[in-house]
Amino acid sequence: MELSVLIHKFDIPGRLVTINPNGGGNINDTYLAIFRNTFDERQVILQRMNRAVFENPQQIMANLRVLTVHTHRKLEEEAEQSDRVWQMPKLIQTRDGKDCLIDDRGDAWRVITKIASATAFNETQGPEHAAECGAVLAHFHGLVNDLDQTELTDPLPGFHITPRYLEKYDGTVATVAGRERLNASMEARRLAKFIEDRRAFAPVLQQAIARGELQLHVMHGDPKVNNVMIDDFTGKGTAMIDLDTVSPGLLHYDFGDALRSICNPAGEEELNLNKVVFDMDLCLAFCKGYLAQARAFLTDADRRYLYDSVRLITFELGMRFFQDYLAGSVYFKTRHPEQNLNRARVQFRLCESIEARERMIREQINTLA
Ligand SMILES: Nc1ncnc2c1ncn2[C@@H]1O[C@H](COP(=O)(O)OP(=O)(O)O)[C@@H](O)[C@H]1O
Ligand SMILES: [Mg+2]
Repeated sequence: MELSVLIHKFDIPGRLVTINPNGGGNINDTYLAIFRNTFDERQVILQRMNRAVFENPQQIMANLRVLTVHTHRKLEEEAEQSDRVWQMPKLIQTRDGKDCLIDDRGDAWRVITKIASATAFNETQGPEHAAECGAVLAHFHGLVNDLDQTELTDPLPGFHITPRYLEKYDGTVATVAGRERLNASMEARRLAKFIEDRRAFAPVLQQAIARGELQLHVMHGDPKVNNVMIDDFTGKGTAMIDLDTVSPGLLHYDFGDALRSICNPAGEEELNLNKVVFDMDLCLAFCKGYLAQARAFLTDADRRYLYDSVRLITFELGMRFFQDYLAGSVYFKTRHPEQNLNRARVQFRLCESIEARERMIREQINTLA
């Protein structure tokens, strides 16, 4: 089906002016469509949802419905006291009242409102930007803090349960091909040792949940910089987008993953390990932005595990890359055979850099929270 035909199945007033690819996501296919009438213009986002990642689009849309109804109500309630206008996309239904459309190929499409006058950057622009990312994530966590997590279905069960990745890794090492790849290089053996040295640390958050110290809330699930929209006029954060992974989880998974990605300016593909450093200026800025807002709802136990979450999520991602490398790169797409090995090296170096700064990171968190 042509895009122009497809978009007309949705209930949008005005006449279609253009429809073009938009944004730099790498999961969904995203388009911007502009509708106009004599006095007004309506810009909307059309997305084809990635079937390989999300098998059940209806379930994702049901989650999105629960989330947006809850957050729009809260945003209205707090609007008067708020220092800015926070935005949250609204779902636009099809003309026959559905939240998504299945095309003749079986792909699911949805339309959501566009966040007005804002940009999602692909890289951290500096400490001020990092602070806004922190503020946006904390505001999001505050919005969903009283949303009953049982109303959401987990789209990717077990996504941040580190011990499960460890089991999967052990399984791969036990295969003939896995063992061969492991023994084929010194570097692979070094990474295996890195994992062994942190085996006891892997269940730290799961154990805290089991002891009742940490409770599951609603998490975003993918809090990286290009899912945070920054207002073009004020430079302040205005919205958290890419809501497909919103699910029951720990706030710590988001906090750790956000710091992991934001404080590594070298990026996930860096070949020169000496350039991979956990940036403390960016960390301080993010923590300031996050904790200024999150102070209101974090418990003492929540605070105690924030440092661990940064270390753990970085370790976890490194282990996932390494496991996939040993399994023959079946999950993470690669352009060359050693790519997942290198991605693992980068995350493990970052993890070491975090460990070396443990005292400083803990101090920052303690003074700010
Ligand atoms: N509601 C929106 N308003 C404005 N831009 C959007 C909106 N939703 C998505 N985008 C743009 O499209 C990009 C990809 O969308 P996203 O939902 O993050 O998909 P992906 O899962 O592929 O990352 C975003 O980084 C952003 O630039
Ligand atoms: Mg995205």
